[in-house]
Amino acid sequence: MIILIGSNKGGCGKSTTVTNLAIAFAKDKKEVLILDADRQSTASRWGGDREHYKVAPYIQILQKYDNVQSSLNQLRDKYDVVLVDVAGRNSREMLSSMLSSDLLICPLQCSQPDLDTLGELKEQVVQAGDFNPKLKTYIYQTMASTNLKVKDKERKDFKEYINQFEVFKLLNSVNYFRKIYKDAISEGKSVLELGNDDAINEVSMLYNEIKNILS
Ligand SMILES: Nc1ncnc2c1ncn2[C@@H]1O[C@H](COP(=O)(O)OP(=O)(O)O)[C@@H](O)[C@H]1O
Ligand SMILES: [Mg+2]
Repeated sequence: MIILIGSNKGGCGKSTTVTNLAIAFAKDKKEVLILDADRQSTASRWGGDREHYKVAPYIQILQKYDNVQSSLNQLRDKYDVVLVDVAGRNSREMLSSMLSSDLLICPLQCSQPDLDTLGELKEQVVQAGDFNPKLKTYIYQTMASTNLKVKDKERKDFKEYINQFEVFKLLNSVNYFRKIYKDAISEGKSVLELGNDDAINEVSMLYNEIKNILS
């Protein structure tokens, strides 16, 4: 199974999603590999910190750039799941990954600059679909506000925006803005390995939703 976490926007939570999902799969006894196709190497650095701090389990991470399609096709048989992390722009790595992936998850904040990148993503998804009709695409709302005064309205606005696009489905899971996500990634950990129940529930919900989509 190949899951691409991709978007045309930086800083929307791709690497955070990849690292947390990697641990969710590993805890579920799946053989998981992260293909780090972003030259900024966030996921690889996270893996390095994990080794440095001797946090088990060890997560395999491979760095590949440019056209990663043939690498993905080889890795597909060797692992239960390959998670692909890419740069936050329209990149060759992202497009070539789309041709081999089963699922594309696009993390996005509910903010205009993030939402403005969906027109471009739509074109990419339509074109990739001509070559890879099995690709499923879901948008994942990230860094949502926990403020009770704005939370529901923000989700409603986000849903309305996504619903304008026929090619996108929206994940029910939502990722909220919580400091624990920053703490976790800086320690080479997932929030699943720390003590914040809200964040643990968020990642668990995301994991279960993805498992259902792929089953
Ligand atoms: N849910 C969250 N709450 C708070 N901070 C977050 C959350 N998700 C990501 N971050 C932080 O936001 C920044 C960008 O996240 P990152 O996963 O690196 O995005 P991307 O890979 O899309 O560029 C990082 O500093 C990360 O720690
Ligand atoms: Mg990143």
